[in-house]
Amino acid sequence: MNIKKVLLGAAALGVAVSLAACSGGRGGTGGDSGSGDNKGALVGVAMPTKTSERWIKDGDAVKSGLEKLGYKVDLEYADDKIPQQVQQISNMLTKGAKILIVASIDGTALSDQLDQAAEQGVKVIAYDRLINGNKNVDYYTTFDNYKVGVDQATSLLTGLGVLDADGKETGEKGPFNVELFAGSPDDNNATFFYNGAMDTLKKYIDDGTLVVGSGQTGFTQVATLRWDPATAQKRMQDLIASTYSGGKKVDGVLSPYDGLSIGIISALTSAGYATDALPIITGQDAEAASVKSIIAGQQYSTIYKDTRQLADEAVKMADDLLTGTKPEVNDTKSYDNKVKVVPTFLFQPTVVTKDNYKKVLVDSGYYTEADLK
Ligand code: GAL
Repeated sequence: MNIKKVLLGAAALGVAVSLAACSGGRGGTGGDSGSGDNKGALVGVAMPTKTSERWIKDGDAVKSGLEKLGYKVDLEYADDKIPQQVQQISNMLTKGAKILIVASIDGTALSDQLDQAAEQGVKVIAYDRLINGNKNVDYYTTFDNYKVGVDQATSLLTGLGVLDADGKETGEKGPFNVELFAGSPDDNNATFFYNGAMDTLKKYIDDGTLVVGSGQTGFTQVATLRWDPATAQKRMQDLIASTYSGGKKVDGVLSPYDGLSIGIISALTSAGYATDALPIITGQDAEAASVKSIIAGQQYSTIYKDTRQLADEAVKMADDLLTGTKPEVNDTKSYDNKVKVVPTFLFQPTVVTKDNYKKVLVDSGYYTEADLK
């Protein structure tokens, strides 16, 4: 037998063996996953709040994915209250959870629990939001948060007509009156969204195409604690009162999240803006109410992040850790939690407008047409 053939055969065998080893770690759907001590292990899943539809979808998908693999799940929601989330995670550790999957409320408030987790040999996966200031964050899965901000700003510019559908400048110079909103300062994602957006808008603010009427452009000035729609509504009301009286109109609002966009739209319509003459308003999460608003021509865009992908990835990571496989990551640079760079699996966001919602949201099965009626 020719030596080359022998080597090739051996290599093929090696590939087959390592593929089998990998797929073993990913389990099947028969509930037979988990090996040794971790078979049927308890996984703690801590979610921030039920006030936003997405976290309900995330929580349900993570729970059912883990249960299909035979694990037990303790899924908790914390009503956006930090002490409640701290308590829930402590309880998960007391109950003997072997893995924690955490979408934090305040990314810096969980250090004691993470230290305790490490002492008990429990691995921690940060879900969508990075946990900061502690070395015991083992993995992270999220969407490309900087890109989300770039996409939000780009769609604001497209909606205003400054950029065309391909992202090319049209020559339109406005000037357009815009106002900026950012997310919760204790959520690491909020700065990523804001930085991505501001890096994109800066040029147009500098050359006068965009005018931030209120002058409020700093992150702390425009941030919205706990992503609270009522806080955004109040701030928009105040901005209208202070800056947009006497016929001056708002042309665009950078909003980082659909819940805030709803509050902003309420403030504008209460102040007399017609629903068919609202400013260009962005968003994020493709929540059903906001997609309906987009279809009705009120909100301009949202950013779709397929929570099914994210949930599947968190489930895979947990299963890998419980079966002794190293989870796969695709980013080892971007997410420095001030103590370490956390290995991350990143997904890509998609801009949704009236033009593509059917293709992106309905054809993919994320929503049915009926959900959006
Ligand atoms: C962020 C998340 C966004 C949005 C927001 C408010 O952390 O990345 O998609 O859901 O929280 O819930």
